[in-house]
Amino acid sequence: MGFFKVHSIIRSNCIRFFVLLVCIASSSIIGAVSQATVFQPKDAYRILCGVTGNATDSQGRLWVGDGDVSAMSILNLNTGKDLQASDSSSNTDVPDRVPFSTARILTAPAAYSFPVSPGLHYVRLYFYPFAFSGFSPSNVILSVNADSYTLMSNVSISDLMYADNLAFVFKEFSVNVSSTLFTLNIIPGMAENAYAMVNGIEVISMPDDLYKKSLMAVGIGVTIPFPLQSTAMETLYRLNVGGQTVTESMDDLGRMWQPDLAYTIGAAQGVADSTQDPISYGTLENYTAPSEVYQSARSMSNDNAVNLQFNLTWNFTADVNFTYYIRLHFCEFQYDLSNMRVFDIDVNGALAMSAYDVVAAASGKLVATFLDFALTLQGTNVNPVIFVQLHPNSSSKPSYYNAILNGIEIFKMNDTTGSLQGPPPVIMIPRPVPATGSSGKSSGRNMGVIAGITVCVIALVALLVGYVYLRRWQRWKFEKGGGMSRPSTWTPIPTHSRTGITHSMISKLSSVSRKSATSSYVSSVPSGNCRYFSFAEIVDMTNNFDEGNVIGVGGFGKVYKGVCDDGTMVAVKRGNPTSEQGVTEFRTEIELLSKLRHRHLVSLIGFCEDHNEMILVYDYMSNGPLRGHLYGAGLPPLSWKQRLDICIGSARGLHYLHTGAAHGIIHRDVKTTNILLDENFVAKVSDFGLSKTGPSLEQTHVSTAVKGSFGYLDPEYFRRQQLTEKSDVYSFGVVLLEVLCARPAINPTLPRDQVNMAEWAMAWKKKGLLDQIIDPFLVGKVSKDSLEKFGETAEKCLLESGIDRPAMGDVLWNLEYALQLHEASRERELDVSNPKVKEMPVSEEQHLTGLAVVPEESPVLSEDSDDATASAVFSQLVNTGR
Ligand SMILES: *[C@@H]1O[C@H](CO)[C@@H](O)[C@H](O)[C@H]1NC(C)=O
Ligand SMILES: *[C@@H]1O[C@H](CO)[C@@H](O)[C@H](O)[C@H]1NC(C)=O
Ligand SMILES: *[C@@H]1O[C@H](CO)[C@@H](O)[C@H](O)[C@H]1NC(C)=O
Ligand SMILES: *[C@@H]1O[C@H](CO)[C@@H](O)[C@H](O)[C@H]1NC(C)=O
Ligand SMILES: *[C@@H]1O[C@H](CO)[C@@H](O)[C@H](O)[C@H]1NC(C)=O
Ligand SMILES: *[C@@H]1O[C@H](CO)[C@@H](O)[C@H](O)[C@H]1NC(C)=O
Ligand SMILES: *[C@@H]1O[C@H](CO)[C@@H](O)[C@H](O)[C@H]1NC(C)=O
Ligand SMILES: *[C@@H]1O[C@H](CO)[C@@H](O)[C@H](O)[C@H]1NC(C)=O
Repeated sequence: MGFFKVHSIIRSNCIRFFVLLVCIASSSIIGAVSQATVFQPKDAYRILCGVTGNATDSQGRLWVGDGDVSAMSILNLNTGKDLQASDSSSNTDVPDRVPFSTARILTAPAAYSFPVSPGLHYVRLYFYPFAFSGFSPSNVILSVNADSYTLMSNVSISDLMYADNLAFVFKEFSVNVSSTLFTLNIIPGMAENAYAMVNGIEVISMPDDLYKKSLMAVGIGVTIPFPLQSTAMETLYRLNVGGQTVTESMDDLGRMWQPDLAYTIGAAQGVADSTQDPISYGTLENYTAPSEVYQSARSMSNDNAVNLQFNLTWNFTADVNFTYYIRLHFCEFQYDLSNMRVFDIDVNGALAMSAYDVVAAASGKLVATFLDFALTLQGTNVNPVIFVQLHPNSSSKPSYYNAILNGIEIFKMNDTTGSLQGPPPVIMIPRPVPATGSSGKSSGRNMGVIAGITVCVIALVALLVGYVYLRRWQRWKFEKGGGMSRPSTWTPIPTHSRTGITHSMISKLSSVSRKSATSSYVSSVPSGNCRYFSFAEIVDMTNNFDEGNVIGVGGFGKVYKGVCDDGTMVAVKRGNPTSEQGVTEFRTEIELLSKLRHRHLVSLIGFCEDHNEMILVYDYMSNGPLRGHLYGAGLPPLSWKQRLDICIGSARGLHYLHTGAAHGIIHRDVKTTNILLDENFVAKVSDFGLSKTGPSLEQTHVSTAVKGSFGYLDPEYFRRQQLTEKSDVYSFGVVLLEVLCARPAINPTLPRDQVNMAEWAMAWKKKGLLDQIIDPFLVGKVSKDSLEKFGETAEKCLLESGIDRPAMGDVLWNLEYALQLHEASRERELDVSNPKVKEMPVSEEQHLTGLAVVPEESPVLSEDSDDATASAVFSQLVNTGR
């Protein structure tokens, strides 16, 4: 108790319902809201609950304390039961101390009343319950009403946080206020000990023309008027599709836009792309959405045939028996003309728009537009899901079979009773038991049931607390919160969240990996030996970029075969001028790449940046990508030993990236087209580093990974957006299967259960029938135990959870073991005179940790297996392990 900063309030009367009349003469008092934009909100209240004084959040927005009598010139506060609470722990789960580290605790209904001009207003509520003075966060249960709407009803904030894995609860509503006094009623919930706790409230005018007054109803196919003037909406999702978080301060209307990756579904989550070109708003108001939203998008792959087989899909959970306002934002920044990209839009399986052509609809490239739909989820057996699907429409023979989406917003409309409250959240994970220090029960029980008793108890407690902490309180300044610890540290806070904090998690993670990558480069790698080429030399080398010399096309640009002046063959990669990569980033990449030297990595020989070109010159790999030797290119098949050597080589390259001098590099795009073979079929990993390590390349991190992802992407990565070396291990597991089965990772022309090779092969592996699906060429040429080991290794790489997957070094060791087994069996076959060969079981730990068995001491080397072959296996193991 002695650690709390408490400000107790005992006001003149004990009315259960009090009105906190926050009357600010004009909105200009809260100046931070007005930015240099066109839309100026008439009303802009940003209220910090439970605070006396002002505070500024990390985005520079000013919040005014609701307890500041002097700042609020008219304060008509009749309060019965409330407390100003402050969280003194330096909690890192929330993105900001303002408004999360303070709150007003209400044990009886209360109201905030704002003088406003009638019209549409955003109402934003911030909840972050923390343990305070005997109040347990799990008892924060409340209802919120405004005008004739029920915004929240009997909601347990901590249940919500558990169910959705949120770090805090943020709610945004839009309400058309009809009178000049907007009153927000906050009512403690119906459960025993329930109390309300609010951290921050925003009430801000919004443009009256932001939403449409009539909407196209999906599934019904007609445009129907909606009573928007008398309908409140709750913002459920607001995503910057294919892009990064857009923060409140970057948006004219103070809205936050989140990345969409977590909502994309299936193997075909498409390609994230972005542009730096300015976009035009055409006939739209420029507060419709920030330009960052229109400058990034998700589209399909550049393979027309594949695209026709897939939908770009986003899934969202929603409540049944509500109608939703869905807004899709579009802006074409890749194609100039209409009929280049034409697609259908399905919402919950029903056609919402056919043959949509963004350029035609917006009348131009780089022009923003949007589409609005209404979707009603109703019935008894309806899934609580909204899913949006885009699919190319080929009926007008467009240049590309593709689809694009830049942003999506989903709002829930109030039901006919004026309520926005759905059923209570479903809690999957059992809640932890509160730590012993939390004594919310005893003090909480006394509150809220019978007014008279409650009031007296509160008054007593408050008096006592107020007396004891008066002096401490007087010294306390809001701005200096923190530094003191509290006895009860239990808060219902999971480690990360879906909607609350995802963006800051991502930036935290990427800043960590960024830092480690840079520091290791700077400290431990000797300076590179990278040559500078003039543009004339490059033109010479490539015969003026002869299209006949093109050996590859990637997201970065085209790759040409060339001949260096000393006669060596090189691969020349010419950056597409429209590529997102800037010159500084390009130079950083060169610095990094030129220092990476490894037998199993493709080396960077030099570069050219004349004429704003971004050209990289690499070793030429005469045998090209591994994939061509597995299927599709008509090349002679590789033997099992060659395949094992190639896998081992690639594993060494990746192991070096993860742990070697280049420590901490995650490839992010491991696949058979990025494993190249030289004239001796030595495997070299390529395409690492580019647009993956540079500090200012946040934008391309996700998109690059996604580009390489068709069938290779670590499911855990796109679920949790946490990128680790184990994501490479997963992709490498897919490569192993591809090598074994000689088929593409994704083949949409196959029956449904075979489309995704990893899933399909693992199903066979589980049945112990992996040998049934291997490359026909290998049948009879692979020993059973070598195949067994190989399959087992792939299976471990593909484990659902990254921490269960082996490290690249372990994968390497297992593959080497598979090779030893293969060679041993070959020798056995040759040694026909001695058929009595016994299998040598080597325990998992032994070969995983690199502790090889010394043959003489091995108990398994019994008298009847003294043959040379078995010993050879073990001595080779000893050798290769070191
Ligand atoms: C809080 O901010 C408002 C608006 O800028 C200002 O009028 C008021 O004096 C501030 N109050 C305090 C205590 O700083
Ligand atoms: C808000 O309601 C008023 C009537 O109360 C109506 O005139 C106005 O058009 C409504 N605004 C919007 C954006 O629907
Ligand atoms: C928005 O449009 C107005 C004209 O309607 C223009 O004056 C203003 O600069 C634009 N703002 C931005 C951020 O583009
Ligand atoms: C997406 O929604 C569809 C339709 O309800 C459902 O079948 C599918 O399982 C959902 N996918 C995920 C990953 O939630
Ligand atoms: C794409 O979506 C449409 C509409 O929901 C559906 O009919 C079709 O089967 C989907 N195609 C694939 C490949 O999932
Ligand atoms: C494609 O567009 C045409 C023309 O609008 C439309 O008739 C058709 O239903 C759309 N969908 C498909 C799958 O062809
Ligand atoms: C939706 O409403 C129908 C009847 O109107 C009802 O039977 C059904 O249980 C409701 N569904 C949910 C999830 O509340
Ligand atoms: C929202 O609630 C109001 C009553 O408060 C009602 O008039 C209106 O029709 C409701 N909106 C919808 C879409 O049901």
